[in-house]
Amino acid sequence: MKNKDLSKEYLNIVKNILEHPEFQRRKEYPHHGEITVYDHCLAVSYTAYCIAKKMGLDYESAAIGGLLHDFYDSPWQECTEKKKLFEKHGFVHAKEAAKNSWKYFPEYMNEKREDIILRHMFPLNVKPPKYMESWIVTMSDKYVSLEVLKDIKHLHRYVGFNKKKERRK
Ligand SMILES: [Fe+2]
Ligand SMILES: [Fe+2]
Repeated sequence: MKNKDLSKEYLNIVKNILEHPEFQRRKEYPHHGEITVYDHCLAVSYTAYCIAKKMGLDYESAAIGGLLHDFYDSPWQECTEKKKLFEKHGFVHAKEAAKNSWKYFPEYMNEKREDIILRHMFPLNVKPPKYMESWIVTMSDKYVSLEVLKDIKHLHRYVGFNKKKERRK
């Protein structure tokens, strides 16, 4: 998704986050397959923004929460350390993303946006979203990830489970 394909209003909402050096670093994080974390988050954010706007909801929170929903610490594919099930990426990255969002973008955060980020992995993370905007982001995330989900063999990528042969050397 190129910036020229995005609406002016949307870009005004997210511009400062997109240009921030810490967020720019996500251009180097592989997410699912060839897609970077930056591209994935942008696609989820713009999808959620468009839906929320159409529904007359808080589209700014959908855009910002969507953009920050996978703002986790480090590329999970590079992690070779053995972890217990509930310490794996799928279970912990939403919390990491919320923590980083408060750290780098406190002026953009509030309780609703934190809920959007924390609950986006529902139902893997069992606590359901509290707000409509959180539901929109979790559904947009799944929709954008369909490339990965359409082949059941790749489901582990969506939930963030590493398969040995896919780990980067
Ligand atoms: Fe995620
Ligand atoms: Fe995601």
